[in-house]
Amino acid sequence: MADIRKKQMASETTEAQIAVHWREEEYYYPSAKFIGQANLTDPGIVERFSEKNYPECFREYADLLSWDKYWDTTLDTSDPPFWKWFVGGKINASYNCVDRHLAKHKNKAALIFVPELEAEAPVSVTYRELYVRVNEFAALLRDFCGLKSGDRVTIHMPMVPELPITMLACARLGVIHSVVFGGFSGEACGMRIADSGSHVLITMDGYYRNGKLLEHKAAADISLDIAKKEGQVVDKVLVWRRHAGKNASASPFVKARDFWVDELLPNYSGQIVPPVPMDSEAPLFLMYTSGSTGKPKGCQHRTGGYLAYVTGTSKYIQDIHPEDVYWCMADIGWITGHSYIVYGPLALAATSVIYEGVPTYPDAGRVWRIAERLDVNIFHTSPTAIRMLRKAGHDEPSKYNYHFKHMTTVGEPIEPEVWRWYYETVGKREAVIADTWWQTENGGFLCSTKPALDPMKPGSAGPGMPGIYAAIYDENHQEVAAGSGKAGNICIRNPWPGIMQTIWGDRDRFVAQYYAKYCKNRNSKDWHDWPYFAADGAVLAVDGYFRILGRVDDVINVAGHRLGTKEIESACLTVPEVAEAAVVPVVDEIKGRVPEVYIALQPGLVASPEIVDKVNKVIETMIGKIARPRRILIVPDMPKTRSGKLMRRVLAAVSNNMSTGDISTLANPDAVEKVREMAQGKESVALADGPEDLKKFGTED
Ligand code: PRX
Repeated sequence: MADIRKKQMASETTEAQIAVHWREEEYYYPSAKFIGQANLTDPGIVERFSEKNYPECFREYADLLSWDKYWDTTLDTSDPPFWKWFVGGKINASYNCVDRHLAKHKNKAALIFVPELEAEAPVSVTYRELYVRVNEFAALLRDFCGLKSGDRVTIHMPMVPELPITMLACARLGVIHSVVFGGFSGEACGMRIADSGSHVLITMDGYYRNGKLLEHKAAADISLDIAKKEGQVVDKVLVWRRHAGKNASASPFVKARDFWVDELLPNYSGQIVPPVPMDSEAPLFLMYTSGSTGKPKGCQHRTGGYLAYVTGTSKYIQDIHPEDVYWCMADIGWITGHSYIVYGPLALAATSVIYEGVPTYPDAGRVWRIAERLDVNIFHTSPTAIRMLRKAGHDEPSKYNYHFKHMTTVGEPIEPEVWRWYYETVGKREAVIADTWWQTENGGFLCSTKPALDPMKPGSAGPGMPGIYAAIYDENHQEVAAGSGKAGNICIRNPWPGIMQTIWGDRDRFVAQYYAKYCKNRNSKDWHDWPYFAADGAVLAVDGYFRILGRVDDVINVAGHRLGTKEIESACLTVPEVAEAAVVPVVDEIKGRVPEVYIALQPGLVASPEIVDKVNKVIETMIGKIARPRRILIVPDMPKTRSGKLMRRVLAAVSNNMSTGDISTLANPDAVEKVREMAQGKESVALADGPEDLKKFGTED
């Protein structure tokens, strides 16, 4: 038995083994020019944020903000693991990102919107204009929708300046926003409306993607039906308009429910809404993400700690100065966009670029043209986008006259050769690279090099951030030593201000998901007993640099975005013909991983392209195009243990053309051969993405 377990473990840790055999990469050093202008050049930061100065070290981040009332307790650990930060303080996020910059920067661009069609010129929104628009929209939310502090609002919008305006208007009133990525389906949005208990949905009529004006408002109608079925009624739908005087959506307006924002706004013209001083611990927003169970969970982020953390990390790691033009290509509908397009950069009075569309539209030079035209000097994107841009136009960057001082990679492990292309070709050997590792739950970066202080190492995120004490633990709760070459679970030993407060409405799940595994004593009020379990595998080199290997749970990281295998499986099971479904990750050259679906049909049914089509459609409608599988394979029999457990591990090995290890103990070892034959293409029904699709593929769909 022990032998079998050992063999199973061996095939389960294959990825780690590959990593262990990766060679150590050479260091790259920041240029003197970069160091000369950097925000963080004092190596004393390591000492200042060391354990002996914890938690008070985080005052340094909080002091970057303007507080209505200073806090009395930096960290309250009385109810572990529900940590409280800057307790007693009062602060408003909208004030910090807008009002406080007016004195010095009112005529400076806060946002530059780049429409996807090149015929439409970029639009700058100054800090003064942002102030006016946030105030007017806040007045509308307060007086027309009756929204007040603590209410939740769901926002389902594309990449347009009206999205941060909406978020900041909510924050001004203390209304908790829940932004759902615009590419998610109406169904997915509806489930999130219901879970958050939102009475108001804010959306847009349409947006451009790959040269087409996509209809978007129709998703709102679907989401409202779904929310209603789940017991949540939405009274008002506010619809922003993509083009003045036009309607991009054919979806009819429901009287007294649906309203054009631009028809209501004149009633609030010039109104000023005082920012509400919020408790530090008041929730600022919810961000739903996938976990290892079927239902996405609402990560609840606090106002004071979150804003302090994203502001501090934007200043020190992103090296944002007010005079920088900063472009993060993520979608605001994901945590990266919240922290590092909206809250962090705007709190520092930067200019933050918002690009509407696909990075390769209309051609592989688009991103570099935008960088040249706007004179972007800080660039932030994901390995998937980098791989895609490299494939689409290896030498394109050299044709354009832009100069980045700093570049970020985030969301997935980056292969050293892709890193080098980013460094040499995109960054022209001038820009530093920060490989930032973190998660939706974390608010901001957990591991990264400090750009002017630490050398870069391709493929490694770097050391724990200042004040983040990261460690790797094995399954026996032992710390894995640096340089041992062994992979394990990366954990953060201490609380930090950006960590989420809880899962919205589900305290038990919060504890179970992140703390149960390594908690040393459930009754302890000492934070040392409560390491945070990130559900990522990692190895730690002797120099203290972490190399992240990927998820150790049932989450697939597709193009830097998280999909729960259980979520996709639940969607498949809604097709009546489907008896069983198993979803596994397959390595993909561009997207990192993509899902592959195995289906077993109800007894007596015969496989057909129609069933495959149905399964494909249901995944698209219940989750969104982002979850579209590489293939759907209808198999006669799923490999199972004798106790009936479906062996996803075996299916994953088959899908990735790897050895399945010992399968002799399975209830039906023969099933594996049959599945392998099908997976190798002899009988499969493929849905492979064509080149057209890859072209369409942005950072987020
Ligand atoms: O597996 C890790 C991977 O992305 C997961 C978090 O995804 P999400 O919550 O959507 O947040 C993405 C943006 C912060 C992690 O559990 N991940 C994130 N950054 C990196 C990474 N893997 C390797 N290197 C990174 N820099």
